[in-house]
Amino acid sequence: MIKCVSEINLRENMGTLVLHLAQYVHPERTGLYTILSRSYLKDLDGTDFSFVDEYALVVEDGKIVEGILRLTEEGEEFMAVLVVAGTVEEARKIAKVEGGEKVPVAPAPVSLSLSETKAKRKFVWFSDRLKIASGSAQVITFTPEVLASIEVELAKVRAGRAEAQKRTYGADIQAQLDSDEWRELRQETVREFDGVSHKMLEAFREVLNIKGGVELDELHTLFHGDQGSKIDRREKTLMLGGLRDAEKRQTFLDAYEKLILEVLVPMVAEKIGCSRVVFQSFPCVRVLRPNEFSIGPHCDAQYQLPDGNLNVYLPLTDLVDTNSLYLESQPGKEDFHPLKMEYGELCTFWGCYCTHFAVENLTDKTRVSLDFRVIPGGMYEKDVEKQEVDFKVGSYYSECRKNGEGGGWAVTTRGFPSHRHGFPHTNK
Ligand SMILES: [Fe+2]
Repeated sequence: MIKCVSEINLRENMGTLVLHLAQYVHPERTGLYTILSRSYLKDLDGTDFSFVDEYALVVEDGKIVEGILRLTEEGEEFMAVLVVAGTVEEARKIAKVEGGEKVPVAPAPVSLSLSETKAKRKFVWFSDRLKIASGSAQVITFTPEVLASIEVELAKVRAGRAEAQKRTYGADIQAQLDSDEWRELRQETVREFDGVSHKMLEAFREVLNIKGGVELDELHTLFHGDQGSKIDRREKTLMLGGLRDAEKRQTFLDAYEKLILEVLVPMVAEKIGCSRVVFQSFPCVRVLRPNEFSIGPHCDAQYQLPDGNLNVYLPLTDLVDTNSLYLESQPGKEDFHPLKMEYGELCTFWGCYCTHFAVENLTDKTRVSLDFRVIPGGMYEKDVEKQEVDFKVGSYYSECRKNGEGGGWAVTTRGFPSHRHGFPHTNK
């Protein structure tokens, strides 16, 4: 049996799943990996995880040909499942994920093409291939040889981006998406903010209850019991536990919204000229200890995020060498480079179409970073019913508007943290 993943950072374990998949799944079938949230299900319509057990696995010659295999244990807030069927669409039907009426799932369930495992090839995961091709370099140079080693992933991004570019928007939204102002705004730019009056670092340390002189980039010295195992994330669950508590995380949420309203929103509104801005209701939190790896090459449009998203990357620790985010400067340019930043800076870029990824952290420091998205109001559908099912204002997104004569901005609709913002900061 595939060893189940822990409730935290389930997505990070997809690589492990891929490595073992061929042993358990029929080579002609397709697997769909997705993550279900118990609390989110209950919020919606009272549905629980029981439907998974009602759909029995069909096994032939020791290999799964159809059904749902749960990968996490009972009693957890989240459940990871592998859905096996002939096609991804069939798998979605089995898991009732199409349309999302009963079972909301990750914004883009990752399809695992089993044809690649058909031959008895040894699968080497992205970060390991990159490490080999670059000679475990601290500063990766993307030579043609290094790029060739990750061509499989890059080809998938190109295909996904081309598919996403076929999406259409209403005339008003499209006009703004085509504007020069938006083209300028979405260029990769590092901006400064006042890291003292905006207490992002302080609030984050508080919610994690970090005592004494331990710096954030030394977190691995406090939480290291599961080091060496890419499956076991119990210590990370423990480390980030405060984020799962609505009361404990409130100060951090307040600091985040203050930063949005006072730094990001005025900057966006001045450039685009809007009186409404949509923003991610809770930031994604990334903690990458030494020798950990998080996410391979992708662009956010592959996950159905709408075109008007401006990505924001805010480090709470110094970004150095492999301990950073790599991105390209223009969609498809593939001139990958790491961000070199420190707390008090944030980078805005068009992650919707610019490929970005992390590599294995080969430094001896932990990286802690936040990432989130803002959309100039005119670039996103106002009718909630017409918004992307996984990216609605009031859940994934919050919304703010310019507040009358004073000219200040105020949150008018507030969403809530969920597994779509990444683990572990889900509802209490
Ligand atoms: Fe992304």
